[in-house]
Amino acid sequence: MRRLCGIILSIILLLTASSVWAKPRGDHPLSNIAIHKASIALHDSAYIKAAPTILGLRGQNSDWVSVEYNFPNASFNDWIGVFSPANISASICLPESPRVSPPLLCIAPIKYQFANYSNPKYQDTGKGLLKLQLINQREDFSFALFSGGLDNPKLVAVSNAISFANPKAPVYPRLAQGKSWDEMTVTWTSGYGIDEAEPFVEWGPQVGDRRLSPAGTLTFSRNSMCGAPARTVGWRDPGFIHTSFLKNLWPNSRYKYRLGHRLFNGTIVWSQTYGFRASPYPGQDSLQRVVIFGDMGKAEADGSNEYSNYQPGSLNTTQQLINDLGNTDIVFHIGDICYANGYLSQWDQFTSQIEPISSTVPYMIASGNHERDWPGTGSFYGNMDSGGECGVAAETMFYVPADNRAKFWYSTDYGMFHFCIADTEHDWREGSEQYKFIEHCLASADRQKQPWLIFLAHRVLGYSSASFYAEEGSFEEPMGRESLQKLWQKYNVDLAVYGHVHNYERTCPVYENACTSQEKSHYQGPLNGTIHVVAGGGGAHLAEFTTLQTRWSLYKDYDYGFVKLTAFDHSNLLFEYKKSSDGKVYDSFRITRDYRDILACTKDNCPSTTMAS
Ligand SMILES: *[C@@H]1O[C@H](CO)[C@@H](O)[C@H](O)[C@H]1NC(C)=O
Ligand SMILES: *[C@@H]1O[C@H](CO)[C@@H](O)[C@H](O)[C@H]1NC(C)=O
Ligand SMILES: *[C@@H]1O[C@H](CO)[C@@H](O)[C@H](O)[C@H]1NC(C)=O
Ligand SMILES: *[C@@H]1O[C@H](CO)[C@@H](O)[C@H](O)[C@H]1NC(C)=O
Ligand SMILES: *[C@@H]1O[C@H](CO)[C@@H](O)[C@H](O)[C@H]1NC(C)=O
Ligand SMILES: *[C@@H]1O[C@H](CO)[C@@H](O)[C@H](O)[C@H]1NC(C)=O
Ligand SMILES: [Fe+2]
Repeated sequence: MRRLCGIILSIILLLTASSVWAKPRGDHPLSNIAIHKASIALHDSAYIKAAPTILGLRGQNSDWVSVEYNFPNASFNDWIGVFSPANISASICLPESPRVSPPLLCIAPIKYQFANYSNPKYQDTGKGLLKLQLINQREDFSFALFSGGLDNPKLVAVSNAISFANPKAPVYPRLAQGKSWDEMTVTWTSGYGIDEAEPFVEWGPQVGDRRLSPAGTLTFSRNSMCGAPARTVGWRDPGFIHTSFLKNLWPNSRYKYRLGHRLFNGTIVWSQTYGFRASPYPGQDSLQRVVIFGDMGKAEADGSNEYSNYQPGSLNTTQQLINDLGNTDIVFHIGDICYANGYLSQWDQFTSQIEPISSTVPYMIASGNHERDWPGTGSFYGNMDSGGECGVAAETMFYVPADNRAKFWYSTDYGMFHFCIADTEHDWREGSEQYKFIEHCLASADRQKQPWLIFLAHRVLGYSSASFYAEEGSFEEPMGRESLQKLWQKYNVDLAVYGHVHNYERTCPVYENACTSQEKSHYQGPLNGTIHVVAGGGGAHLAEFTTLQTRWSLYKDYDYGFVKLTAFDHSNLLFEYKKSSDGKVYDSFRITRDYRDILACTKDNCPSTTMAS
């Protein structure tokens, strides 16, 4: 401890924090902490200590710690930061330019809590005890007590370091559909690089032989981040991200799997055992259930209050998805995944939160503004919503069956469904590379075998009554549907689902602003248009609707929720919207139709025919 203080003090004498290190943009809770201004005010009679020192002794990757502290000069705005790695004095910023003095600390806490959280009398007694939940994030942890509030932090005391029993353990598997229907991919995180151990998956049917499949390993460095905070105080080593490709699966069959790392002395480090059901064959007639939502984010089960108003619905949504997991076959999280916004520690915490889901069913993602957008980096929008990640974290942490994962558009088949997933953070307009992909994807569904054609994207390319779109007069992302509506119509797209707007809304079947059907709950025969749905209420703070009555809007809900599609067979689809608070259905409709209804010619969807014989 003394040595740590000495190091910090010598740093502070050498350096002065510069105002160039302005508060990072954005409303991420961690961006409220002016960590770059932190100074040292170590107090002789103050202490903070954490127990137990070893976590996860039963092999679990999440555990609780007690943090006890005492500060004779306590104040109402004192706070506890959780740091990982524990040696915060080792985290000194490198200046972005030689004339900029680096700040004292170049590491944001991975979470924080006010010191008075569990003891309202803290200000008088100076004593407190926090219960915090930690997840295995590879490095050790320490806890630091700060006075001066979040704006002007003064480091008063630093705790002992604590650690998980095996900090490098393979954790948080994410399943995703491979490039062909009979391939499942498993992506996970560990602390084992390929110069230390060979990553692989041991897997096989419920009963029968086990196979081993090798995994590829990726990571990314601070230098691949595009700006602050990802490149500065938000940077944290992501460890190693492994992906294995489990091939030649039997349709709808159940498999077990576990993750392994073979150390070079022969020892194998195993994860726990998980299971999944392989995807159906394209066109296969079986019960198929799909969950779709956007903008979920993360929160902390220990109530770390930095998240209380950031993604307030995310834990409820996660819990409802877990409750209904036995009746779910595949999940689409269509952008704005964890809102790390350049605080990279949050990706581990998010993948831990969704582990029960993503380890059991394919967890397919789309790219949103909070994954990709950064000025001057080729994103369609030049804003700073990714906090400097510029897509790198999302593209590495999750597998998608795209030709190029940096261009986040892809198609995937699931039995009677064909999905086309667009990337709204790259140009989609007519003439663009993505437009060609979208047309090809829509055209490649054989509708007799895959009647349910679904278009997914993050931003609303179709229709939304969100007040921010209404104020622009567009009721969509500007330029959203202008190019695409003729494709949806030509290829008879049934349903388009979006996020980005944090609420729920369903339209009539619509083409060029006009409803093509007056029906509201049971569509029979040709749809003649596309039903557009906003399902952006996954968890992030809600978005207001305009008070204007839009003629295509059939149902609006200002609440957290998600959408579920159930295909019973080639002729019957059930659509449901469920709230995250209780998991009950609040809006629904059915589609009943035959193949000839898909082929039926309506406005602008049939090539001209000739009467010649
Ligand atoms: C006690 O805290 C107050 C407010 O944070 C500060 O102004 C004062 O200097 C502190 N006193 C000592 C002895 O540290
Ligand atoms: C606890 O600290 C927070 C942050 O400074 C403050 O807003 C709140 O009023 C405090 N609560 C009590 C009971 O003092
Ligand atoms: C913490 O990091 C600094 C800088 O890298 C190093 O000099 C020091 O020895 C480390 N302290 C501990 C306790 O590991
Ligand atoms: C192999 O190395 C690991 C990590 O260094 C160690 O825990 C394990 O005991 C070693 N096993 C053998 C058989 O030497
Ligand atoms: C689609 O259009 C056809 C012909 O215009 C009409 O008969 C049918 O009712 C329409 N479908 C729906 C669902 O309204
Ligand atoms: C989460 O669910 C609980 C239980 O239904 C509910 O009381 C609470 O309001 C929900 N939270 C949010 C932010 O909707
Ligand atoms: Fe968004």
